[in-house]
Amino acid sequence: MTTAKLIVGNWKMNGLMTDSRERTQKLATAANSHKATEFQMVVCPPATMVDIVAAALKGSEIKWGGQDCHSQQSGAFTGDISAEMLKDLGCSYVIVGHSERRQHHRETSVMVAAKAKAAHAAGLTAIICVGELDHERTAGQANRIVSEQLKASIPDTATPQNTVIAYEPIWAIGTGKTASSEDIRQMHALIRSQVGALPILYGGSVKAANAAEILHIPNVDGVLVGGASLKADEFLAIAQASQ
Ligand code: PGA
Repeated sequence: MTTAKLIVGNWKMNGLMTDSRERTQKLATAANSHKATEFQMVVCPPATMVDIVAAALKGSEIKWGGQDCHSQQSGAFTGDISAEMLKDLGCSYVIVGHSERRQHHRETSVMVAAKAKAAHAAGLTAIICVGELDHERTAGQANRIVSEQLKASIPDTATPQNTVIAYEPIWAIGTGKTASSEDIRQMHALIRSQVGALPILYGGSVKAANAAEILHIPNVDGVLVGGASLKADEFLAIAQASQ
């Protein structure tokens, strides 16, 4: 793919008003002075910070998104947030099926597909996450697990314009361990054969020091960054590694 690399920051459950505003303003200032065509940055803060991030990013080159959405548009779902609500805050993206949601909230691939469908209906691009556990890879099951997750998590409304796949081996998330370039190359080739033109991100301990290598692997259309997206300079350096 020759399109701009997608560099997505997932802040997870981190960020209060002051630090969120400062970090985002720093990103917006830097992005405006670069006018990059090689990458598109996206910031996904906690739901409570979306409005603050949106205010800081308005008019900049950077887009923003949510970390999860409900599969219904509205209703009696205490504590949940709909895709339409995120759209209302100017979001362009929403992450669905992150392994932390699959693990801690028992989300199944069927639920993930319903969330992605809701995102599409609201006019958002869904970033659908898949990935295998450590013991699944050791047992030689990684391909089968990821393949099954893809089959069940991508709704029939998906197009290359409204859907992005993020491959995140679970054992590489927040651990400082990244998959080898060869493992990433193989898995992304497998995913490509299954999802056609949908963009594919890699995620799991991506940082400035390894971003250039990862971003230049075939079928890696961008990265999903957790911990390293909490530092504006580090996140910018990751984006600039696309060049
Ligand atoms: P990490 O998280 O970069 O901190 O490993 C990635 C993710 O969970 O999206």
